[in-house]
Amino acid sequence: MDDPPRRAALDALAAVRERDAYANLVLPSMLRQRGIHGRDAALATELCYGTCRARGLLDAVLQSCTDRPLSEVDGELLDALRLGSYQLLRTRVPPHAAVGTTVDLVRAGRGSAAAGFVNAVLRRVGVRDRDSWVRTVAPAADEDPVGHLALAHSHPRWIAQSFADALGGDLDELARALATDDARPLVHLAARPGRISAAELAGLTGGRVARYSPYGVHLADGGDPGELVPVRDQLAQVQDEGSQLVTLALAGVPLKGADARWLDLCAGPGGKAALLGALGAIRGATLEAVEKAEHRARLVDQACAGLPVTVHVVDGRVSGLPERAYDRVLVDAPCTGLGALRRRPEARWRRRPEDLPGLLRLQRELLVAALRLARPGGVVAYVTCSPHWDETVGVVADVIRRTGAEQLDARLRFPDMPALGEGPHVQLWPHRHGTDAMFCALLRR
Ligand SMILES: C[S@@+](CC[C@H](N)C(=O)[O-])C[C@H]1O[C@@H](n2cnc3c(N)ncnc32)[C@H](O)[C@@H]1O
Repeated sequence: MDDPPRRAALDALAAVRERDAYANLVLPSMLRQRGIHGRDAALATELCYGTCRARGLLDAVLQSCTDRPLSEVDGELLDALRLGSYQLLRTRVPPHAAVGTTVDLVRAGRGSAAAGFVNAVLRRVGVRDRDSWVRTVAPAADEDPVGHLALAHSHPRWIAQSFADALGGDLDELARALATDDARPLVHLAARPGRISAAELAGLTGGRVARYSPYGVHLADGGDPGELVPVRDQLAQVQDEGSQLVTLALAGVPLKGADARWLDLCAGPGGKAALLGALGAIRGATLEAVEKAEHRARLVDQACAGLPVTVHVVDGRVSGLPERAYDRVLVDAPCTGLGALRRRPEARWRRRPEDLPGLLRLQRELLVAALRLARPGGVVAYVTCSPHWDETVGVVADVIRRTGAEQLDARLRFPDMPALGEGPHVQLWPHRHGTDAMFCALLRR
């Protein structure tokens, strides 16, 4: 049976498993190459991304429906089992179609014996619905509430625990946070300041003006934003509203004295640098953008074409740039990315807690370097796309202890936004604000 959307979803899952591909890069190009558009493309995307996100729950269910350990199941068949069980447990695809279409794909690629195995396992999966499976395979809610919610919303436990810690242990809110993180997010655009307004951009793209960022537009579901004319013409860029807000927070801090030299110490691929560069062009400031990785520095160059931005390919910790020179400095530090998991379908299963110590060291060193580069009275924004306590509040507290920098109340720079917490930092959340879970602390040298 010819089933291009499911075939594409299955092939993209294989690429993610075999060569560590990113689903949100590999699938769109596969769809373009194969001429899959419209509803078929939307179906392939929903099945591929949804299966990637839900892997933890799906594997727990599949393990209880097979005799052998999943690690011994052939990779392609495991992809098919995950794709089939995702449709059974998390979509409105009728069960007979979820099983039948998956078995057909396996038969066409791998023959009857493999198809028989997949058919038998999926029939066992289909015996219960999602909630019933969660009750069966998840840790008991009264004994291990975080573990229960983690499995129910398909997050690794350590990530769910880090969200719980950042939310002060409120389990109802944790459930909302994990559920929102598990849903498909809208694409956000940022209108380029000085070139086009958010209202004009919304009119051109069929999107709607964002709630909090004056430059933000939320696109309606579906479609490839890279194809939009305003994006191709650099009147707008794809950028989460939270990323816009933390950039605007830095730009909005009142300063005494000079305000003409701005610095972005971790600039690649250039989303925040482009927004800062466009604001700088209006306000008579220039931006220097530092990026260690050469290929990412090239992306910064492209993103900032036509703006008063100079790119330096150098390590931000030892940049050789002048100390005590910059009025505003952004440190958008390399981090675990736990705040943007909804946009990177497989990322939650790739990240490891062991990644943290190296990142924490790098984050501290970059923030200390930024404070050295800022002029006395200048402001530094420390930003992560993660709510993990260690790489947010922990890093900031540690650097303040070492440097004596003054922490400003960042909440003042997020006007009219609810639920910003007790400060002085700001932690945004998908379930509270509809943004990625961006963290922002503002420090004055
Ligand atoms: C979170 S990303 C920045 C995203 C970017 N600000 C944007 O909005 O598009 C962090 C960046 O820091 C870069 N990076 C990592 N270590 C660095 C270092 N020591 N110095 C400068 N850049 C570094 C990474 O290559 C990555 O591009």
